[in-house]
Amino acid sequence: MNLNLHVWRQASSDSPGKMERYEARDVSPDMSFLEMLDVVNEELTNKGEMPIAFDHDCREGICGSCGMMINGVAHGPQRGTATCQLHMRHFTDGEVVWIEPWRAAAFPVIKDLCVNRGALDRIIQSGGYVSVATGNAQDANSIPVRKQDADNAMDAAACIGCGACVAACPNGSASLFTAAKISHLGQLPQGQPERDRRAMRMVAQMDEEGFGHCTLYGECQEACPKEISIDTIARMNHDFAFATLRKREERKLAGTG
Ligand code: SF4
Ligand code: FES
Repeated sequence: MNLNLHVWRQASSDSPGKMERYEARDVSPDMSFLEMLDVVNEELTNKGEMPIAFDHDCREGICGSCGMMINGVAHGPQRGTATCQLHMRHFTDGEVVWIEPWRAAAFPVIKDLCVNRGALDRIIQSGGYVSVATGNAQDANSIPVRKQDADNAMDAAACIGCGACVAACPNGSASLFTAAKISHLGQLPQGQPERDRRAMRMVAQMDEEGFGHCTLYGECQEACPKEISIDTIARMNHDFAFATLRKREERKLAGTG
């Protein structure tokens, strides 16, 4: 099949960008979206032109590097699918496809379709970990975890940090990402000692990075390639509210608040 592509080209973060037209010829329906872009890039390189820059690594839907707006939809038309796992069989011969980088104030464009998602790393650095002296690995059965908690934590842990939730949200909110990380650790026994601190620090960092607030549009869970539920946002709000109340009580008791 052949496709008419309109691709965002931008040489660097401080230069202006614009949509450029390309033809993708002889595309196999079995190719992934990134493989289709590889073919276009090979043609551009052979002509001596600059290839289209885009992020990718595993190409297996697990690293979270890839991601672009495809016809205005984060990761394209296939639900629960990262761009690298999207196949060309979901497009039709002659289709016009618009390809843009994530659009969010907290994700500045580096080049073409690559954006800087360092803000998500800084949210993790602010509390997305368990800082205990681990020693040797414990026997798996020595810390019992309720089945429902294990399942919920596992679902939240599926987040690959791609940033599609931010790009899809009309507010540019990183709530789904942050909530997934807070819910993942907050539901496991190992995550309890730092649960309050984690929620407060990660939410504060999210605000500091310039992400918008969540007003429950729900676009994030629709765009998420791992189908993380917005229920995690309710858990984040719960943890944040209780942590704030406990802190206030502590200050009152200590006579400092
Ligand atoms: S919550 Fe989903 S969309 Fe957001 S960063 Fe994680 S995997 Fe990507
Ligand atoms: S390249 Fe790793 S998730 Fe797409």
